[in-house]
Amino acid sequence: MSEPTIESILQEKRSFPPSLEFSQKAHVKSLEDYQQLYDQAQANPQKFWADLAQQELHWFQKWDQVMDWQPPFAKWFVGGKINISYNCLDRHLTTWRRNKAALIWEGEPGDSRTLTYAQLHREVSQMANVFKQLGVQKGDRVGIYMPMIPEAAIAMLACARIGAAHTVVFGGFSSEALKDRLVDAAAKLVVTADGGWRKDAIVPLKEQVDKSLANNGAPTVENVLVVERTKQGIQMEPGRDHWWHDLQAGASADCPAEPMDAEDLLFILYTSGTTGKPKGVVHTTGGYNLYTHMTLKWAFDIQDTDVYWCTADVGWITGHSYIVYGPLSNGATTLMYEGAPRASNPGCFWDVVEKYGVNIFYTAPTAIRAFIKMGEEHPNARNLSSLRLLGTVGEPINPEAWMWYHRVIGGERCPIVDTWWQTETGGFMITPLPGATPTKPGSATRPFPGIIADVVDLEGNPVADNQGGYLVVKHPWPGMLRTVYGNPERFRRTYWEHIPPKDGQYLYFAGDGARKDEDGYFWVMGRVDDVINVAGHRLGTMEVESALVSHPAVAEAAVVGKPDEVKGEEVCAFVTLEGSYSASEELKQDLKQHVVKEIGAIARPGEIRFTEAMPKTRSGKIMRRLLRNLASGQEVAGDTSTLEDRSVLDKLRGGS
Ligand code: PRX
Repeated sequence: MSEPTIESILQEKRSFPPSLEFSQKAHVKSLEDYQQLYDQAQANPQKFWADLAQQELHWFQKWDQVMDWQPPFAKWFVGGKINISYNCLDRHLTTWRRNKAALIWEGEPGDSRTLTYAQLHREVSQMANVFKQLGVQKGDRVGIYMPMIPEAAIAMLACARIGAAHTVVFGGFSSEALKDRLVDAAAKLVVTADGGWRKDAIVPLKEQVDKSLANNGAPTVENVLVVERTKQGIQMEPGRDHWWHDLQAGASADCPAEPMDAEDLLFILYTSGTTGKPKGVVHTTGGYNLYTHMTLKWAFDIQDTDVYWCTADVGWITGHSYIVYGPLSNGATTLMYEGAPRASNPGCFWDVVEKYGVNIFYTAPTAIRAFIKMGEEHPNARNLSSLRLLGTVGEPINPEAWMWYHRVIGGERCPIVDTWWQTETGGFMITPLPGATPTKPGSATRPFPGIIADVVDLEGNPVADNQGGYLVVKHPWPGMLRTVYGNPERFRRTYWEHIPPKDGQYLYFAGDGARKDEDGYFWVMGRVDDVINVAGHRLGTMEVESALVSHPAVAEAAVVGKPDEVKGEEVCAFVTLEGSYSASEELKQDLKQHVVKEIGAIARPGEIRFTEAMPKTRSGKIMRRLLRNLASGQEVAGDTSTLEDRSVLDKLRGGS
């Protein structure tokens, strides 16, 4: 693990208080209100969450115990019966929201669709019946490998309705990556589409599913349900493959939501870690429902009149929590967009904002940096006056990008809500409450009420203000991951053992370095483990290394992050070759393509450097710190005395 360092750009002193106009209408109206909520939650977390669960959600049956904490395993609302699809749909139907837009979809090229709560409820119920007809039962797992179309959300909600767990796999992942996930989750059904539109081209999703299932690749999968989206003509295997529209046509829209135990599995979402294959992060029903509901309500100040747009893909946690579950549980209007900004259409996001009068907009710093490059004439040429709040997530936002977002997109009137959280946390953890918290460019500000976060050293001792350390959470929260699917030991090792319990208190280790300033504001500095963040996507360096060494030419590979102006980081791979292979430009391209095939385009190395040997310690460990220095073109810093063969370093400096 590397030590976090404090960078000079974090000496940021600017502060932006909420406007009076915003605060007056907000759910949480002042810093005093925030402090009061925070203090209440700290004094009695169980009462705090239980009161909210009672007020904000529908329960078929109330819980017997608010929290059961057998470290590091937490249960929330034990004995309670709930269904998140009921909370996202049914309960709104008896109110004026019945005919309110639940989901607005803007597709590419130029298609669009709006589903009211009543319509969404109908389609979800039909699909829930289709799933049952295909043999899916409560407790089964369903793989979802979809483009950004309403059917992705419908499939997720249909799973939740009948108590099947979904595992959504981002459509940019390769057939190999899909196969690994379907096997690990032992999925019974896969929901996909013939294809999806991505930057003016078709992504052949069904073809990828076919590859992953070929040769009995994922033996538990019995059926494949296919949405017709791009109509390019695909193979359908009789008996296994079914068209969504065919089965929907004959399906009843009557499918009452199954009362689920609060701790029943809701979904598994795979994410990269330090070692081995991606791990299946497990989220359960009741706590996750409450946590995504409350965080969206208070941190994004969602109101009934808002059109809310989160630009993430449903394949990531941001899409789960803040395109689907959080917004619909609140009865909000959530917008889903299939497109992505690109050279041929640099203003497409701003067209969507203008077309639908988007009020709340949530994106990632990498996108903001790409917009800066494309030029402010694109947003300036559109009417963005409907916007009232801007959110950011996925990586630390550099103050320049923050200021640009504030000025050019937010017209200097919109609060910027920088949300720090993870796949594992379920929802926002450190975030401003926009009517209450003065913001500072580059800081996610303060913890959400009920979250006790701190910055500590490796022994668990809090570090002094403005000192770098490790970000930890000191008390369980309802949205936290419950375990790693099928691997509780990995759960324990990854999150609870890097830093030992302190005075009997377990500390959740987030894997991020941070510092806290004199106002209690958190400044997250990025990962301290072997995880890199490429354009807001989390990648394990080991995963990319395994992909590389599975190529016959590669003897050894070491992957590090290299700073990139737009993506934050990009993959830089150091590779030694097997004796019979020699370095060439062609081989570089071949290796890049190999990684795409093994993992997906998001992992394509930006740079491959061939080297005769790796810098290693005498005990044979690759000194990644040196490679990181080399990749970023910096002088090799720190101690190199443990290096086994110093001439390796000189050769690497020469590069190839
Ligand atoms: O390093 C942190 C970074 O993204 C990691 C979590 O990645 P993932 O599980 O894919 O979830 C991304 C979306 C929630 C974190 O460990 N990260 C996320 N948000 C921020 C951030 N780093 C700094 N500031 C943020 N706002």
